[in-house]
Amino acid sequence: MTSSSVTTQDPSDLRALRDVLGSFVTGVTVVTTLDTDGTRWGLTANSFSSLSLDPPLIVWSQSLNARSHPVFRRAQRFAINILTEDQIDLAQRFAGRSPDKFEGVATVAGLGDVPLIDGALAVLECVRESIFPGGDHVLFVGRVERMASRPLRPLAFGQGGYLVTQSHNGSAMV
Ligand SMILES: Cc1cc2nc3c(=O)[nH]c(=O)nc-3n(C[C@H](O)[C@H](O)[C@H](O)COP(=O)(O)O)c2cc1C
Repeated sequence: MTSSSVTTQDPSDLRALRDVLGSFVTGVTVVTTLDTDGTRWGLTANSFSSLSLDPPLIVWSQSLNARSHPVFRRAQRFAINILTEDQIDLAQRFAGRSPDKFEGVATVAGLGDVPLIDGALAVLECVRESIFPGGDHVLFVGRVERMASRPLRPLAFGQGGYLVTQSHNGSAMV
């Protein structure tokens, strides 16, 4: 085991804060919803996390600056689409600001007609349970109503880039 030097950094340095937070590796999701006028909305989010098993709750956070923020605020339902390692193009598309991110993307209508991304590793269809303020973000808590998954490998994100997952030799199952 080797030890490397630790540098203390100031969290008011936003670049440094982003880098340190980025050392926590996550999966990548596209969160989707349907607006009251029938328009489909979605954005790439890695802030998704499990929250509670009983009741089945999940959480994700959205920047107040996201164009789709007002839509998610009024939406009663949303879906978490967990991406596979082959879906970087979708992650990039839904992280952009194109007027129709869904063009050419295969979807199926889920509960409440919320668009679900065809080919996602897993989909969690949620009813919004609560919203909490969180600085320049807002936390959305959703109750999982229906879910589906397939045995593919997840896309991961960390240290500022996309990653692929690999089992750790001799790792313990929990
Ligand atoms: C890997 C990755 C993870 C992201 N995670 C989040 C997130 O959790 N919350 C968020 O608000 N934006 C996140 N973003 C940024 C949004 O996807 C991006 O700002 C998008 O343009 C927002 O879409 P909208 O402006 O159409 O609502 C992430 C981007 C990437 C590439």
